[in-house]
Amino acid sequence: MSSEWKTKELSDTFLENVRGAIPLAETQFEVMHKMISLWFPEVGLAMDLGCGDAVVGRALLSKFPSAELVCVDFSESMLDSAREHFSKTDAVHFVEADYSSSDWTGTLNDFGGFDVIVSGFSIHHQTDEKKQEVYSEIYGLLNPGGVFLNLEHVSSSTKEVEAAFDDYFIDSLYEFNRKANPEIERQTVVEKYYNRTDKQENILAPLEEQCDWLRRIGFQDVDCFFKIFELTLFGGRKPGRKDL
Ligand SMILES: C[S@@+](CC[C@H](N)C(=O)[O-])C[C@H]1O[C@@H](n2cnc3c(N)ncnc32)[C@H](O)[C@@H]1O
Repeated sequence: MSSEWKTKELSDTFLENVRGAIPLAETQFEVMHKMISLWFPEVGLAMDLGCGDAVVGRALLSKFPSAELVCVDFSESMLDSAREHFSKTDAVHFVEADYSSSDWTGTLNDFGGFDVIVSGFSIHHQTDEKKQEVYSEIYGLLNPGGVFLNLEHVSSSTKEVEAAFDDYFIDSLYEFNRKANPEIERQTVVEKYYNRTDKQENILAPLEEQCDWLRRIGFQDVDCFFKIFELTLFGGRKPGRKDL
């Protein structure tokens, strides 16, 4: 179970130095919007699982402003950062829960079923066995026709491809960090990247395998909708909607 993520230090580092460097983040959200518009256009209740500062949930609300959003995270510090981004009038709820625990779905009993569940760069901290359990639990929380979209860090097919991703992502981190600190050296970024405290918490799994898990659980129309090296948007929808 990931615990480093509960520290304010790692939360701040991620939010200030890493999140903004994710390549093509806007495109990832555009694709997410497109899939939800096609599959569940009148989103009622939505969840951002492992929300961090709720950047994914906020992207969802920007396109579906009448949706009600539940932000779930086990880090108080991350939930505090999320709260800062919403006004009192927004229909947003914050739930502190650890989705690696067996009873986390019980913390959501006050809400009905979910139309959409999104997650950003979070579930890859779990073992493969636990990932599958979480995907099954997500399936159980969705309404018929409900959509699950996972913006996720997956494994590369070979060490060589992984090295290419690392190099590409370091370029992106370097460019992003230079905006705040023009003097920063690329080598400093390289060292931070390889020695970062959360690196050992990553348990990356192949995209194809994860799509197969979703199919086995019962999701339909499972696919990868966006991919750039190890950064992907994949998911599917729960069967059962008659009107679309
Ligand atoms: C890399 S951050 C991503 C945050 C945000 N979703 C984004 O896309 O920027 C991972 C988030 O997942 C949360 N997280 C990790 N493991 C978790 C768990 N077992 N239960 C709940 N939240 C978890 C962390 O606290 C952190 O906020």
